[in-house]
Amino acid sequence: MDKLCISGGRPLLGKINIGGMKNAALPIIFATILVNDVCVLENLPDVSDIKTALEIVRRMGAEIEQIDNFTYRIDTRPVHSNSVPLDLAKNMRGSYYVLGAELGRFGRSYTSLPGGCNLGARPIDQHIKGFEALGATVTCIDDGISCIAENKLEGAPVYMDVASVGATVNIMIAAATANGMTVIDNAAREPHIVDLANFLNSCGANISGAGTEVIKIRGVDKLYGGTYAIIPDMIEAGTYMIAAAATKGDLIVNNVIPRHLEATTRKLVEMGVEVEEGDDYVRVRSDGNLKKARVKTDFYPGFPTDMNPQFCVLLCLAEGESKITESVMDSRFKYTDELVRMGAKITVTGRDAKIEGIDAFRPANVRAVDLRAGAAMVIAALSANGTTVIDDIYHIERGYEDMVGKLRSVGADIKKISDKLS
Ligand code: EPU
Repeated sequence: MDKLCISGGRPLLGKINIGGMKNAALPIIFATILVNDVCVLENLPDVSDIKTALEIVRRMGAEIEQIDNFTYRIDTRPVHSNSVPLDLAKNMRGSYYVLGAELGRFGRSYTSLPGGCNLGARPIDQHIKGFEALGATVTCIDDGISCIAENKLEGAPVYMDVASVGATVNIMIAAATANGMTVIDNAAREPHIVDLANFLNSCGANISGAGTEVIKIRGVDKLYGGTYAIIPDMIEAGTYMIAAAATKGDLIVNNVIPRHLEATTRKLVEMGVEVEEGDDYVRVRSDGNLKKARVKTDFYPGFPTDMNPQFCVLLCLAEGESKITESVMDSRFKYTDELVRMGAKITVTGRDAKIEGIDAFRPANVRAVDLRAGAAMVIAALSANGTTVIDDIYHIERGYEDMVGKLRSVGADIKKISDKLS
């Protein structure tokens, strides 16, 4: 098992470049199955979840050529139906996007029930509701889920009881080549939903309203391949913004869409952190005097649940009592036990965390309990005087591209060690 070894207490200074957004890239990679042609995807993040997604599509029959670190040519014409490699799919939540893609292309799909970060119950009832509205029969068999449409999918109105990212993605993909019009009401509004719609439209789909709560998808007969660049990762960017603030740094977070970072920026400013917005960068500076704050996670454009753990680290370093309320995921606070090992004073009651400010974290041996929790441990370690070792970093590598290299380039003392060497 690899670990991260971080000797903290140094401010992050300089410029960090942000990669493509994992949660936009995943649906787009699986949507290429529906496109049934050659797609060139640029700005794919170099992270393990993306490699797994590409491997799943490759094992389904696609021909994939890597053009450079971030660009892949994917020919999905040879993909055959009912070919999802279940051993790989079960470990990655985003793999359930094969359902929408295969259903749209072949009228049937079978895959394993989704894995991913353990953030509490993560039901897929809204995906099922959408597929059924389009005319598919959905059944759960063993550890898998089967969707079968006897006839071509028919567009339909779908009201989502929860503005789920995953369900909005799956329904959009399945509906893109259905007969007639699908209207998704109470759709997710996240930037990755807009990116998927832009990708599908660039392939000839007819989707409007993405980014609002009503998305209209007029089915088309055929899609065509092309070249598409994934948007920058707002969660990677937000993570480094917080790391800058926690280390009293001065960091330019480059290649971002500042609008996507608004919720994080607003909270940082409220806490006394200086944030300057450029066209495609934000500059974050802090003198370490941090004010307490209350944060409530919400669907976009609210404060992202994927920034809950990282922001909690900053709130620990603020004066007075802060609070985070988690309103998206059932169980997001498992990471707090690890922060407590580093001296944090956090009390969790249900979906609320009460955070009492401390002067500094103390170094410790801790674990990344999930992807964003891992990022939070890195930030806490960067701010602590002394050496922290973080275990189970495979979680971090699922979603952060070259975190060690990027942090080293702005002054962090961080290295990856493997058990054999330690
Ligand atoms: N929900 C339902 N029924 C459904 C689907 C979702 O009740 O059919 C509930 C979930 O239980 C949850 C809430 O709706 O409480 C939000 O779930 P959503 O479907 O929006 O999340 P997701 O698609 O499973 C994606 C990201 C997560 C991110 C969430 C929220 C991917 C692959 N994953 O998950 O990313 O936390 O949206 O923004 O896009 C991460 O990157 O670290 C990560 C966990």
